[in-house]
Amino acid sequence: MTAAVHVHRGDTAGTGYDILIGGGLMRDAGTLLARVLPEKPSALIVTDQNVGDLYLKRCVNAMEAAGWRLLPPVVLPAGEATKTFAHLEAVVDHALEHGVTRDTVVVALGGGVVGDIAGFAASVLLRGIRCVQMPTTLLAMVDSAVGGKTGINTRHGKNLAGSFHHPSLVIADTDMLATLPARELRAGYAEVLKYALIGDPVFFGWLEEHGAVLLAGDAALQAEAVRVCCAAKADIVARDETERADIRALLNLGHTFGHALEALAGYDGRILHGEAVAIGIEWAADLSAHLGLMPAAEAARISRHLLSAGLSGQPPFAVEAAEIVLKMQADKKAKDGRMTLVLLRGIGRAFVSRDVPPDTVRGFLQDRLGGQTGGLRHA
Ligand SMILES: NC(=O)c1ccc[n+]([C@@H]2O[C@H](COP(=O)([O-])OP(=O)(O)OC[C@H]3O[C@@H](n4cnc5c(N)ncnc54)[C@H](O)[C@@H]3O)[C@@H](O)[C@H]2O)c1
Ligand SMILES: [Zn+2]
Repeated sequence: MTAAVHVHRGDTAGTGYDILIGGGLMRDAGTLLARVLPEKPSALIVTDQNVGDLYLKRCVNAMEAAGWRLLPPVVLPAGEATKTFAHLEAVVDHALEHGVTRDTVVVALGGGVVGDIAGFAASVLLRGIRCVQMPTTLLAMVDSAVGGKTGINTRHGKNLAGSFHHPSLVIADTDMLATLPARELRAGYAEVLKYALIGDPVFFGWLEEHGAVLLAGDAALQAEAVRVCCAAKADIVARDETERADIRALLNLGHTFGHALEALAGYDGRILHGEAVAIGIEWAADLSAHLGLMPAAEAARISRHLLSAGLSGQPPFAVEAAEIVLKMQADKKAKDGRMTLVLLRGIGRAFVSRDVPPDTVRGFLQDRLGGQTGGLRHA
C-alpha cells in the first residue's frame, strides 16, 4: 500500500511536493517520476557504493523502462566523510562533463549523506536544477529527504555549507529498509522517537507498543512510522520553512547535545548521528525533569523506551561535561554563547529554550557522566 504525504510550502504557493511511502515503489520509480516531470528530462542518479551495489541496477532499469534518458550515474564512497567540497565538486564536474542541462533532474538514491550532497549539487548546478529524493535509510526517510535542507561538512564543522533546495518528489520505498544494517535502523529510530516527543504523545504510545517489532524488521510498521513522521515533518516545515520562527527548531530535539558528541568523536564512526541524538534526547528529557519542567516519571518512561530500543547509555568514548558545553556553545544555532536547547514539558510537548545557563548544563552533565561506563547498550 502506498501512502502519500503532501508538503505544502507556505511562502511559495503551488510549489509543494509529495512524499510517496510504501513497499516496492522503486519498481515504479520511472512512472512515478514521470507524473511529476511529464516531459521526462534527462536524469542523473547519485548514490553511494553500498546502496549502489544493492539498488543502482534496479533503479536504472526502472527509470529506463519508463523511457528516461540517464546520464552515467555517480557512485560516491559511503559514509559521512563524503560530504565534502571535494566530492561536491566531483558530482558537479561529472554532471557538466556528461551534458547536464537546466532540465536534468538529479535523483538522490541513498541515505542522508547522498541526499544532502546530491541535493546541494542540484541546487548549485546551472544555478539550480530539480532533484528527487529516494531515501534508503530510515533516517533519510523520516528526516533528511524531507524539508529541503542540503549541505556538506567543512573543516569548521558539520553542515556548514549548504542550501535550501526542496525536491520535486520524495519516493520512500520501505522495502529497502530490509537490507539496512540493524545499527543504522536503530539510529534512524531515534529520529522517529523525536517526532513523538516533539508533539505526538499518542504516537509515543504506539512506539512503546510496536517499536520492538518495527526494529526487528516489520515492514508494515516501518512504513506506518515513516508516514507519521513525514506528516509531522511536513507540518513543521510548512509552518516555518526557513527556520525563522521557533517551530522548525523543535526538530533539533536531542541534537544540541548530539551534535556536540558527534563533533567530539570527530565524525569517525564511533557514534552514529542517530545514536548521538538518542543520547541527546535522553539528556534533554532528564535535564527537563531536573529543571522541574517535566515530571520525572515521564523522563523515566522515555529512558525505558530508549533502553528497550538499544539506544540508551553513555557515549561510547570518554568525554567531559565541560567540552560538551563548549561544543554546544559553538553550535551554529547558539547566539552569544547562549545555547539553544529543545526541552520538554512532557511527552509530546517540546519547546525551544535559550535561557538555561551553561553552568547548569555543565553541572547536570557532570552528574550524568559521573558513573560513565562507556558504550551504548545495544539490544
Ligand atoms: N538535510 C537534512 O535535513 C538532514 C536531516 C538529518 C540528517 N541529515 C544528514 O544525514 C546524514 C546521515 O544519514 P544516514 O543516517 O542516512 O547515513 P548514510 O547516508 O551514511 O547511510 C548510512 C549507511 O547505510 C548504508 N545504506 C543506506 N541505505 C541502505 C540500504 N537500504 N541497505 C543497506 N545499506 C544502506 C549507507 O551506504 C551508509 O553506509 C548526516 O550527514 C546528516 O547530517 C540531514
Ligand atoms: Zn538528526
